[in-house]
Amino acid sequence: MTDAPLRGPQQMSVVGCGYLGAVHATAMATLGHTVVGVDADPARAGALASGSVPFYEPGLDALLTGVLETGRLRFTEDIAEAADATMHFLCVGTPQQPGRHHADMSFVEEAVRGLLSILKPGDVVVGKSTVPVGTAADIAERIRASGASLIWNPEFLREGFAIEDTLRPDRVVFGVGPTDEDKDALEVVRDAYFGILTDSTPVVVTDWATAELVKSASNAYLATKISFINAMADLCDIAGGDVVALADAMGHDARIGRRFLNAGLGFGGGCLPKDIRAFMARAGELGAEGTLTFLREVDTINLARRDKVVAATVEMLGGEITGARVAALGAAFKPDSDDIRDSPALAVAEALHLLGADVVVTDPQALANAARTSPQLTYAATAEEAAGSAEIVLLLTEWQEFVDLDPEVLGKAVQNRRVLDCRNALDPGSWTQAGWEYRCLGRPGVGR
Ligand code: UDX
Repeated sequence: MTDAPLRGPQQMSVVGCGYLGAVHATAMATLGHTVVGVDADPARAGALASGSVPFYEPGLDALLTGVLETGRLRFTEDIAEAADATMHFLCVGTPQQPGRHHADMSFVEEAVRGLLSILKPGDVVVGKSTVPVGTAADIAERIRASGASLIWNPEFLREGFAIEDTLRPDRVVFGVGPTDEDKDALEVVRDAYFGILTDSTPVVVTDWATAELVKSASNAYLATKISFINAMADLCDIAGGDVVALADAMGHDARIGRRFLNAGLGFGGGCLPKDIRAFMARAGELGAEGTLTFLREVDTINLARRDKVVAATVEMLGGEITGARVAALGAAFKPDSDDIRDSPALAVAEALHLLGADVVVTDPQALANAARTSPQLTYAATAEEAAGSAEIVLLLTEWQEFVDLDPEVLGKAVQNRRVLDCRNALDPGSWTQAGWEYRCLGRPGVGR
């Protein structure tokens, strides 16, 4: 950590207290700043104010409770209460528009309108939301008219690692405007990040457009990497290869790297799917649609994983899907999260239910969310319970507690020892030794 801030602790607002904002507000207050979190949803603001995190994020509850006790952090739904702050973080969501690929910018618009009602000359607005390129330049005009400045500082946090990623980021990007005031504003933000920027933190200072693009491009690249290895998994299935060994061998090339080469059910969540779609839509608006058409293929490959798992399940059941008892291990889009937005796991469970299967879903954290959006499914508190009388078990989200399941113990609950490992996460040897018919994706020779 670098030295204490030159300007001392600052008064900040964080506008939008969803995943990003709740974590950011807590982190900033932990650093010693005085922070008011503003969220238009009174229930969300109220929950956070009472120390309750409205989503599952390891470690956040304890950090929030601790920092609330200092009195440096509070939450409100009224932006007027942020009038004393001199630095304002824009952290609202940009979900996909219904029926379109474009990002829904209405929350950004509403937040900017709110900020314009309180901004004072010399204030700094720090944009962290994921936005279409060109948004910052557009917002900056209005912010400047209030005598304030805009820095674009995209956020790369991963769910499940949100605190670590916020307090110890692998890089920090600052998009800065062209004026002297903009450059002064950058120093104010750098100073406020005194506890985050270490001597070894890579910092990239660039223009607004590049800063916005870094976020879209990074998520598009990660999505492409996952769909690439999933396409290789399909090829392995046909050619008789092993996608895990292939990924291991490719990953040893430092230029490629092993991370994000896990083939399986593909990506989901509140970021990658909607971000690649919004990126394509923005390119189209800019008259450059052709530059990103490959992302359409990335999206198609990804969504096809879900169909593939459904087809493999039906096949393993010998075509008898109607009334078949299916245990679905996982509902969250990835482990260590209760987020079910665009969850591949839940999409598979829903599709099998539509085909007439009797699907019982379990998940360590996401059951309540899943039950709200998919009440047609049956839910169980544990893997053993979900597996009761199951004709097939599907590993859909690779929670560690599912990976650690004892196949012998689980085998006592099921009707048929059949498992489809959709994340290539189980140990095929121990499952086959326990008498399970084991299948996975992209490894046709494994388990047979
Ligand atoms: C992502 C980015 O990683 C993060 O930098 C950005 O700020 C927000 O979007 P997150 O949505 O939390 O973060 O999830 P991430 O860990 O990236 O995983 C995304 C999806 O890809 C998950 O569904 C995961 O299961 C899947 N995935 C990941 C794979 O299918 N294979 C892999 O090898 C890696």
